[in-house]
Amino acid sequence: LTPENWRRVDAYFTDTLVGHDEALEHAVAEQEAAGLPAIEVAPVSGKLLNLLARIGGARRVLEIGTLGGYSTIWMARGIPDDGLVTTIEAEPVNASVARASIDRAGVGEKVEIRIGRGEDVLPTLTGPYDLVFIDADKESNALYLEWAARLGHPGTVVVVDNTVRSGDVADPAASTPQIEGVRRGLEMLGADPRFDATALQTLDRKGWDGVAIAVLTDVVEGYDD
Ligand code: DHB
Ligand code: MG
Repeated sequence: LTPENWRRVDAYFTDTLVGHDEALEHAVAEQEAAGLPAIEVAPVSGKLLNLLARIGGARRVLEIGTLGGYSTIWMARGIPDDGLVTTIEAEPVNASVARASIDRAGVGEKVEIRIGRGEDVLPTLTGPYDLVFIDADKESNALYLEWAARLGHPGTVVVVDNTVRSGDVADPAASTPQIEGVRRGLEMLGADPRFDATALQTLDRKGWDGVAIAVLTDVVEGYDD
């Protein structure tokens, strides 16, 4: 296994199964032009979010971390016309870049952007959400999972981005606030009876990473860590 052949396979899957999409490519270009970091999910992962919305029949989606709206567009396309993606973004500049790209993609009426930090905005929201995508500050993953559990229902799908961090997640010598936050989130997904979860390794533009995918069970009480 080399990074090159893993990338080649990812590109092959993208070409064969996902294809080109003008609105999504424009959203990435606008994000770059505005100086936002190139850390949006890969096309195959965006498509996964879209498929999860459709497979689960999601109508209401919660996203934590909008960035330039790339994953937001993918999920908005996966819900019906009267569905809604509520996406939380801490950076007002990111939110305005995202708003323009989302509107341009023709899904503006299905997306509301709430500007603020997750910890401040989440307590103001009313569920239930059918799909939750957590892709913001990694230190807060466990807090965001707590809100996902509270704002979801049995069967809600919860996806957490960036669970590999170039392998740091499984490297005992690696310890930053971000990696500790990722581990706390994964430990919660494994131990908290409200979740049943797995994780997959992925590639994105920055390299080797992964997603955790969980479903909310019918258990309502969390665990004490
Ligand atoms: C980072 C955050 C992300 O959401 C991502 O997809 C990649 C990297 C980061 O903060 O480093
Ligand atoms: Mg991410």
